[in-house]
Amino acid sequence: MFRNSKFSTFLLLLLTYLANYRTESTNFDQEYAKEILSSAQQEKDWLVSIRRKIHENPELAFQEFNTSALIRSKLDELGIFYEYPFAKTGLVAQIGSGSRPVVALRADMDALPLQELVEWDHKSKLDGLMHGCGHDAHTTMLLGAAKLLHRRKHKLKGTVRLLFQPGEEGGAGASHMIKEGALGGAEAIFGMHVDFTNPTGSISSVPGPILAAVSFFEAKIVGKGGHGAAPHHSIDPVVAASYTILALQQLISREVDPLHSQVLSITYVRAGTALNVIPSSVELGGTLRSLTTKGLHRLQQRVKEVIEGQAGILRCTAHVDMKEEKFPPYPACFNDEGLHEHVERVGSLLLGAENVKKGKKVMAGEDFAFYQEVIPGEIFNIGIRNEAIGAVHSPHSPYFFLDEDVLPIGAAVHAAVAEIYLRNHSHF
Ligand code: NI
Repeated sequence: MFRNSKFSTFLLLLLTYLANYRTESTNFDQEYAKEILSSAQQEKDWLVSIRRKIHENPELAFQEFNTSALIRSKLDELGIFYEYPFAKTGLVAQIGSGSRPVVALRADMDALPLQELVEWDHKSKLDGLMHGCGHDAHTTMLLGAAKLLHRRKHKLKGTVRLLFQPGEEGGAGASHMIKEGALGGAEAIFGMHVDFTNPTGSISSVPGPILAAVSFFEAKIVGKGGHGAAPHHSIDPVVAASYTILALQQLISREVDPLHSQVLSITYVRAGTALNVIPSSVELGGTLRSLTTKGLHRLQQRVKEVIEGQAGILRCTAHVDMKEEKFPPYPACFNDEGLHEHVERVGSLLLGAENVKKGKKVMAGEDFAFYQEVIPGEIFNIGIRNEAIGAVHSPHSPYFFLDEDVLPIGAAVHAAVAEIYLRNHSHF
């Protein structure tokens, strides 16, 4: 009960103002969502033609010369400013006021050493190379976002940096982009990855840890070869390797908190070829994963200790190589809570709340994690599943096929995520 009538009048006015403001801003958001989606849909043919061109001409990590040239030519046509090169083939486009806040969007450009087995008009023209992880679509959607944002550049309440990066597939392209200054003054970064488990027109993600820290290793266990009939004259590396492989499995089951996710998989073992000869050495290798970067470092250390120690018990010597030159370890992806909520809000606005799904954590790696070590970031999935056209295969499958309807949707989502972020974080 309000005793003071002046105060209650003031309160009533304030509430009415706030209610109107809310309705106005909701209407504004809905208008905006409609506008950005319809502008993106009008660009569908443009987007499809770019994506098909990239798909037909896949390029491996750090060799994305033609892909990069195509992106630059499109940006030139649009009159969008960019800096080039970063990390050999990468580039950064910049749109907006040039002042803070600065927000970054990222797409990866590299393809896989994989033979495409999908028969369609725009199949890869290069044998043994395929865009089997959707990076052709990521690049296209970011280019689409550039076009949409450029058209609205006078309305942007800050600056958007659009990062086209090389070498996501094992090359840690993101870390090179960062070293060369690609983030500029960005205070937050968003990335999208296509997702074959959810239908086109939906997005999904989770806050906190979402993708694993990843590294690889190889080991050589050396003994002394000899005749299979006289094992006492040899030092058998096969038995030593067998104990070693089993001992490694205890690292996860006995040393890691059961509530912390880690994986250790031995994926190959190579030894002799004859049926009656004990080989002189055994080679083996595999991958290590952890949902925290710290967990991965510990696991790497223990893997080395166990292989060397276990081989030594059986009189062998072991050399462990973490392959960090060729396959730099990736940190874990950790989604910022606030940015995650932002993506969910923008997703609901554009696609409807029912199309913002709860995502899943997976033990795959993603070099987006390098950006998230420097500034808060959010990586989310965008659905491409469409059973009617066979878009049902997982990335890295030779049958991977994506629903191109995602292209305008992804362009609009990318653009809106950045534009609304700037609106919410502008201090002027
Ligand atoms: Ni990928």
